[in-house]
Amino acid sequence: MSVTTPIPASPLDTAALAQLATSLLRSLPGDAPAVPVQGAQPPTTWAPGGSPLAAPSGLSPNVPGTPIPLGQVPGTNLLPSSPGTSLSLVNRAGAVLPHAQAGNGVPDNAFAVLPGYEPRLASLADGVPSLPTPPAPQGPEISTAPQFYFVDAVRLPSGYVTPAKPHPYLHPGEVQQSPLIQTPAGFDVHAVRRDFPILQERVNGNPLIWLDNAATTHKPRQVIERIAHFYEHENSNIHRAAHVLAARATDAYEHAREVVRRFINAPDVHEVIFVRGTTEAINLVAQSWGGQNVGEGEEIIVSHLEHHANIVPWQQLAQAKGAKLRVIPVDDQGQIRLDEYEKLLSDRTKIVAIGHVSNVLGTVVPVKEVVTHAKARGITTLIDGAQSIAHTPVDVQDLGADFFVFSGHKIFAPTGIGALWGRREVLEAMPPWQGGGNMIADVTFEKTQYQPIPNKFEAGTGNIADAVGLGAALEYVERIGIHAISRYEHALVDYGMQQLATIPGLRLIGTVPGKASVLSFVLRGRTTDEVGQALNQEGIAVRTGHHCAQPILRRFGVETAVRPSLAFYNTAGEIDRLVEVVRRLASPTAFGA
Ligand code: ALA
Repeated sequence: MSVTTPIPASPLDTAALAQLATSLLRSLPGDAPAVPVQGAQPPTTWAPGGSPLAAPSGLSPNVPGTPIPLGQVPGTNLLPSSPGTSLSLVNRAGAVLPHAQAGNGVPDNAFAVLPGYEPRLASLADGVPSLPTPPAPQGPEISTAPQFYFVDAVRLPSGYVTPAKPHPYLHPGEVQQSPLIQTPAGFDVHAVRRDFPILQERVNGNPLIWLDNAATTHKPRQVIERIAHFYEHENSNIHRAAHVLAARATDAYEHAREVVRRFINAPDVHEVIFVRGTTEAINLVAQSWGGQNVGEGEEIIVSHLEHHANIVPWQQLAQAKGAKLRVIPVDDQGQIRLDEYEKLLSDRTKIVAIGHVSNVLGTVVPVKEVVTHAKARGITTLIDGAQSIAHTPVDVQDLGADFFVFSGHKIFAPTGIGALWGRREVLEAMPPWQGGGNMIADVTFEKTQYQPIPNKFEAGTGNIADAVGLGAALEYVERIGIHAISRYEHALVDYGMQQLATIPGLRLIGTVPGKASVLSFVLRGRTTDEVGQALNQEGIAVRTGHHCAQPILRRFGVETAVRPSLAFYNTAGEIDRLVEVVRRLASPTAFGA
């Protein structure tokens, strides 16, 4: 195959790129390519040594350095291992074909025809010269200074200082003319975006702008392909010794458990339990630990910021046991009142269950401090990490809690999989919460002996493939670097808050400095549904409604809010587009001014 179409000179010419893609596709026989697509997606193992993207998605048993899976004695797994990831021709074709095309046949996004894994690899796809590096639309500035998310104050080139200092979210007069976003060294948002196929979609004729990341995140190709690889080469239940595929599936599943352990810096892989998600994890703790440890007249502390998933299971427990739910109040910016929290702690307190980041306000809660106060009194603690896991580094040993829980789908993994981490001694003292296969050591009609942790809490056949997908998602984030992600998002959130604050009649809900991801607001004269629908019309996806956290919205005097929420694949340009549409809705005629 030879491609003679001239390579367009920079700046990027989308029509020429479309033509190039068309030439490539026309040169392939049949509907689906029957040979590897030149210049398309390179296999994961092509990344050069030293690249942050070098490791394949998921180690396999034949990769040196793969940890010995749980319960396996070194050298005893003599079954053949899974084949390495191979180039799946049908899958790859999708990477070349834009998911949708504009009426003129031009791909939705010129990047649809560029390789997604590793920007430096374009010229390695034999026969096809490198395409020009696309210009960065908002001209991010590179910072090499060591700065840490929500800790350091960052001075933007505009002179604007981000938290940790108090900052002017609520000064609508101050328009930032230049959307300069502090971009960590080595972090390239455009390279990242190429890993997420769905970001090429068009909605209502516009490029999709996904600002509903607090509800769920999109999945990089590395995760999608890892799951496909599982079903193509490894699918089995996880009974290692039975046969070859069982060994592969077990190894893949236990490798994912080890990746979760590493990602949250848990001391022991046996302390990681796969669950459906945060909700199931909290229900597990409330029913198992709570059922055993909470009694009449005793108290459970949560905060006013909690998602319903960290309220209802405790309420149910309290009702069943005659216990009481106590609530840490928040201040007018949306931060918990530590002074009031300390007053709530007493000899009656059995557990403090606290969200790390609010899904409505974006408040980053000082959970370490919360845990420290509780621990000093010997009180058990749980951190709901659903909204923190994708945005800020998590080290469970440093945080010091007894439980940390999160959902995979908030961090680029599939829905229906998540993890509960608990301290070994706490988990071992807890009764199983569900009975069935996989969690037993021996069963008679008189008595059942349980497996040790983690199996004791994993009754039945779990979500094996998606656990493997979760491992791949966390490995993907590791390769990008959670510190870089956090720093980038920090600047983006700050920019978004400041820009939204310039819109007349817009009220930001939650203005604590150093927020993560979330930019909730209400707009005078418009219902939140109206705003959401108008944004959707422009291809911008946000969540409107009560966000499964009614108490905190009511604390701010509203029943619903519009909630744009960011991930590391979002750009300042997307925020500009959001602000532009909302500003149009906020025109004086909209509320009779
Ligand atoms: N918990 C998810 C949200 O906040 C569903 O939208």
